[in-house]
Amino acid sequence: MAKTRTRCVGILTAGGDCPGLNAAIRGVGKAAGGKGIEIVGIYDGFRGLVENRARVLRGEDFSGILATGGTILGTGRDKPQKMQIGGGQVVDMTEAAVQNYLRLHLDCLVCLGGNGTQKNALHLQEQGGLNVLTLPKTIDNDVAMTDVSFGFDTALSVATEAVDRLHSTAESHRRVMVVEIMGHKTGWLALGAGLAGGADVVLLPEMPYDPEAVVQSVIARDRRGKRFSIIAVAEGAYARDEATDQESSGGKKKGKGGKTRPKGDPVPGEAAARVVRYLSKRTEIEARVTVLGHVQRGGVPTPQDRLLATQMGAKAADLLAEGSYGVMVAIRGTDCAPVPLVDVAGKLKSVPPDHPWVLSARRIGVCLGDEPAAC
Ligand code: F6P
Repeated sequence: MAKTRTRCVGILTAGGDCPGLNAAIRGVGKAAGGKGIEIVGIYDGFRGLVENRARVLRGEDFSGILATGGTILGTGRDKPQKMQIGGGQVVDMTEAAVQNYLRLHLDCLVCLGGNGTQKNALHLQEQGGLNVLTLPKTIDNDVAMTDVSFGFDTALSVATEAVDRLHSTAESHRRVMVVEIMGHKTGWLALGAGLAGGADVVLLPEMPYDPEAVVQSVIARDRRGKRFSIIAVAEGAYARDEATDQESSGGKKKGKGGKTRPKGDPVPGEAAARVVRYLSKRTEIEARVTVLGHVQRGGVPTPQDRLLATQMGAKAADLLAEGSYGVMVAIRGTDCAPVPLVDVAGKLKSVPPDHPWVLSARRIGVCLGDEPAAC
């Protein structure tokens, strides 16, 4: 952690957008401005740094954005070290990023993003020698070393409302509603929305499921006279028989029995479609799929996300002023604390099997797909 006087910082947002990004930009901007630090906004994530697309942000740029969704800076999934250029070529643009950082006279680069962004920021620190500071944002809530990331609470509200709303139509038609919820390779959002919305079955990537346990759960409810079932499935959830051998897949996360989850990013709609296929093979009960998709990421942030983003942004300004770099601003309880970026990048915060939400779900008889007896 370098200790220098910070005069000018660049700020960028990278990865998928989420509610609360503008509130965080505003928090950093207002609090850093109050300490005499100049802020340069960099457009469209790391691509903007590589292409030198940036401008100084003034007080008025931070006004009227607290409650707006998305990001005023734009975002993208580009990595400086593997950037796509014309003709489908992928090139290491780290040096261009470093040169533009120097050209802009930045003392530090503030990166707002999820897991990919934490890795990219660490890369620029280690390979490019840049000073960096990061904030965790993601609807997936999967960034390590922080209790929570901003964006999650808003997505949780949207997904919970969707699960709530599915109840009346499911019951009217005597159907099984399978709702697919984002979260990438973790199940925080599906578990949270499933539990808060009263889903009967919740399937998470952390617990490869037994399709027969899901089927039996739905049949048991039908026999008990329940006219419907709601299944909340995380987009990254998979059945035990889809898990591949660790050696052959090259994946990192172990499923049950020394297996790993299927390789690659979740494909929208596939997790829900698989569940419906299992159900229709084994029962006559009608099922329908709802894929919530990007609606979970859009729109106005909740008060909780605005508070988190503002708190983290203001804390970032304190750290910048004292020249504490190479850290991510984390939430610990109700406080913010810096954590070394090396301890964050490349780690995934998964739902632990003994998380209070998991234990509560089991106690109230929610089927988590892993143990037929619990259904
Ligand atoms: O990381 C946020 C997230 O919304 C994930 O939940 C989802 O898997 C992914 O981004 C979708 O990415 P994209 O917007 O690039 O399709």
